[in-house]
Amino acid sequence: MTRTVYVNGEYLPENEAKVSIFDRGFLFADAVYEVTSVLDGKLIDFEGHAVRLERSLNELDMPSPCTKDELLEIHRKLVELNGIEEGLVYLQVSRGSDGDRDFVFPSADTPPSLVLFTQNKPGLADSPAAKKGAKIISIEDIRWGRRDIKTVQLLYPSMGKMMAKKAGCDDAWLIEDGHVTEGTSNNAYYVKNGKIVTRPLSNDILHGITRAAVLRLAEEAQMEIEERLFTIDEAKEADEAFTTSASAFVMPVVEIDGVALGDGTPGPIAKRLREIYLEESRKKAV
Ligand code: PDD
Repeated sequence: MTRTVYVNGEYLPENEAKVSIFDRGFLFADAVYEVTSVLDGKLIDFEGHAVRLERSLNELDMPSPCTKDELLEIHRKLVELNGIEEGLVYLQVSRGSDGDRDFVFPSADTPPSLVLFTQNKPGLADSPAAKKGAKIISIEDIRWGRRDIKTVQLLYPSMGKMMAKKAGCDDAWLIEDGHVTEGTSNNAYYVKNGKIVTRPLSNDILHGITRAAVLRLAEEAQMEIEERLFTIDEAKEADEAFTTSASAFVMPVVEIDGVALGDGTPGPIAKRLREIYLEESRKKAV
């Protein structure tokens, strides 16, 4: 089925949508993005994604392409036009182009490019992968130093994912100065003796919208949380582990670098948090 996508003010069939070859997103990865999940035809954590987008734009001195209300309207319209019940909305804002390649930013009045499209993912919530749990490998984190800004510089995360696939695994966790930063496209946690351990927010990791919601829900459920640096060896000795992201919610991790966690099946805390998160976020979806 041909999707309807959004490009700079127009809703078009995907094969008619065009962006300039001089677009700075294409030439310089000078672009930021958001991924918002859709359940029951509604947007999950939209407000959080919209606020983070604004922050990413501000950090890069990139103009905002439209208001939050307009963004919500575009998201909703795409979900409706494409009949998405479960899936994702991808949004990208780039600094646009003044029609040539130049390291210097174009003048501030150059209009940014705004592109959105949907991805239909039936069974996203009731995912077989989440029932099985993910196997991960650890690799060195050689990304740039402002991972709190959600830029489209995703080559290394993509290579990490391929390294994991080659090793017969599902994903990779990234290690910097001996400590786990995060997953290729998710935040990372382990659980030992009932305590959830995760890296604190800083420029080193993306400030996950799912992370914020899951930690709030864990706290409300009286779970113990410790935000501190941790090593991959600590995680390997954990009772269980998991990741969070808008595209996979709470994903249990059952193996790290070939070491099975607990009995090698999704742990009770990860399973419970997935349930609570899905239940609560469905209620608040817009
Ligand atoms: N990735 N860390 C990184 C490096 C990420 O790319 C993501 C999200 C997260 C989780 O953030 P959130 O909970 O706001 O989705 C953490 C998205 C899903 C992606 O690139 O497809």
